[in-house]
Amino acid sequence: MKLFSAQIYSERRSQLKKAVGSGLILLLGNDEAPMNYTDNTFRYRQDSNFLYFFGLNQPGLNGILDADSGEEIIFGNELTIDDIIWAGPQPSLNELSRKVGIYRTESPASLPAKLKDFKGKVHFLPPYRFDNKIKLNEWLGIPVSKLGEEASVLLIKFVVDLRSIKSAEEIAEMEEAVNITGEMHKAAIVATAEGKMEYEVVSRIYEKLHFYGAELSYPVIFSANGQTLHNHYHGNKLAAGRIVINDSGAENAMGYAGDITRTIPVNKTFSQKQKEIYELVLNMETSSIALLKPGIQYRDVHLDANRILLKGFSELGLVKGDVEEMLQLGVGGLFMPHGLGHMIGLDVHDMEDLGENHVGYREGLERSKQLGLKSLRLARELEAGFVLTVEPGIYFIPELIEQWKAEQKFTEFINYEKLEAYKDFGGIRIEDNVLITPDSFKILGNPIPKTVEEVEALRA
Ligand code: GLY
Ligand code: MN
Ligand code: MN
Repeated sequence: MKLFSAQIYSERRSQLKKAVGSGLILLLGNDEAPMNYTDNTFRYRQDSNFLYFFGLNQPGLNGILDADSGEEIIFGNELTIDDIIWAGPQPSLNELSRKVGIYRTESPASLPAKLKDFKGKVHFLPPYRFDNKIKLNEWLGIPVSKLGEEASVLLIKFVVDLRSIKSAEEIAEMEEAVNITGEMHKAAIVATAEGKMEYEVVSRIYEKLHFYGAELSYPVIFSANGQTLHNHYHGNKLAAGRIVINDSGAENAMGYAGDITRTIPVNKTFSQKQKEIYELVLNMETSSIALLKPGIQYRDVHLDANRILLKGFSELGLVKGDVEEMLQLGVGGLFMPHGLGHMIGLDVHDMEDLGENHVGYREGLERSKQLGLKSLRLARELEAGFVLTVEPGIYFIPELIEQWKAEQKFTEFINYEKLEAYKDFGGIRIEDNVLITPDSFKILGNPIPKTVEEVEALRA
């Protein structure tokens, strides 16, 4: 188990206790999740908040931090001979806890009484695992349906504040995750070929992932039907003339995520028509990245990417009229119905369990109801130390085009007749992971082929 120094975890916990001020902070670890019976489990994934504050990547642990007394305890079972028989020799919980600066461990059985006897407020985060919901329900007497709203907003806000700013050690981990991800993407570009099944190429992605001892940070999206944003079906045959979206990422040994997208021509080269849209998406991506620095509002960067899209589509004759008016009305949502990006860290959508608005919005910055903008997970002003994704895309979703056309939506702007020729186009997305530096930005990881020439060179 790879860990940062004990001092790092201790400092994080001290900052959290100080910020919360008083009460008991309860941080639940994740248990194993059964697949079809108790002992046959899904891949184990520790809770990211637990990882951040306690580091220990194993099931059966919970932690408390007493903001008043300062006491810190990890609750978990000590090793038994049965554990050693089935799972082999390993450090004791006591030894492991000391590595993360915790000097008191107790049996899980003592936690419920501790919570019940505590006189002050118990701060907990919104649970997302069903078993943790049941535990909180039993321990705190809060109905399962009310746990989300009873979670401590104070605790959520301070956890978000801490986890949003990535330290140098974390950035090194994220670079590693992106570099593994880059190898997966290069392998996929090389393996893509007419007549192959999508899953054959996906197997190359997995090969690289596992070669580097990593796991997926989210399910692979590899699809010739890239117009479906989160398409997890891999059973299509790659037909000549199609383009394939590969949105896949590695989670490294310490749990940090990469989240990269590249779009690949099934033919060895892009057609002229594909190139026009590809260059537009690439321009949206690189122009957005060039704007990044502390203080800029990510919502404005999203809107600027949409502006580039609408200008480009005006030149192609797919839309007409005043670009600023179209931008205001949300016409671009037809072609990019998702947000420009999100925070990334221990989670691919970092801290989404704590509530998207707590992470990506702030008081006075309301979420839009427009298609596209409503799915923008990160809208607030950026700060040095944030790591985020920039992932513009252009999609031609036949069903959506048909619906808007039938509703006669924005007929003064959208050239529905010309769009007919794009209904079998698919989609293009390009995504990178970017660190906000004190005065600018840094794209994480080694470069991954991205321009038309670079992608075609590797395809060849
Ligand atoms: N891979 C999911 C996303 O890009 O948000
Ligand atoms: Mn992605
Ligand atoms: Mn993403």
